[in-house]
Amino acid sequence: MSVHISAKKGEIAKVVLQPGDPLRAKYIAENFLANAKLVSQTRGIFYYTGTYKGKEITVGASGMGFPSIGIYSFELYTEYEVDTIIRIGTCGAYTTDLKVFDLLNVENAASESTYAKFAWEIEEDIISHQGNISEIINATAEQLSLKAKATNIHSSDIFYRKDPAVPAIATKYDCPAVEMEAFGLFANAKHLGKNAATILTVSDIIPTHENISADQREKALKPMIELALEAAWK
Ligand code: ADE
Repeated sequence: MSVHISAKKGEIAKVVLQPGDPLRAKYIAENFLANAKLVSQTRGIFYYTGTYKGKEITVGASGMGFPSIGIYSFELYTEYEVDTIIRIGTCGAYTTDLKVFDLLNVENAASESTYAKFAWEIEEDIISHQGNISEIINATAEQLSLKAKATNIHSSDIFYRKDPAVPAIATKYDCPAVEMEAFGLFANAKHLGKNAATILTVSDIIPTHENISADQREKALKPMIELALEAAWK
């Protein structure tokens, strides 16, 4: 057991797929893993461990924002000896160059957040994916004939804001979309020398307010889930 995860030692796999939403973790476990077992449900944050094509994989939620993914990813890496976390989430596009359902493989996450600085004395405001799992995702996408665009992402602390303009840091680092977790995950993995990647599906186009409807979500997220599982399997 760790402070926020009640799984026993040995009940979490070396590779973890981490959606934000606990119910998405449940959906993935029930529909894509064999022999999935619920190993933690502290605070309603579900973790399941099962097998995919014979390989043990855990899928469990991060919750929203840096404080939450910071806690879960740190405990997974340090208390359960997890080697690799693949975040699978959604993002909002700042530009109509991206379309809903587009798949992104994050190269670097840029943020105004002080999380990395105050947690680990990492002074940079942009942190790359860690280890080789992102390259494995790229190669897997090619094999599956999926387009996973390598891109920078703005990782923000803020979902609702007064000023609708694209934040300066997103312009500075050429980030076409925004989410709220990758920077925290990459900071933890960098500090601990672990592997981390983030795959995102574009769920909304901020300037036009177009979005994936609730009933489209399951189908929309399927390619991302399959890509993450296939890469995790390798
Ligand atoms: N995740 C999905 N859409 C988002 C948005 N518009 N802002 C931040 N995170 C998001």
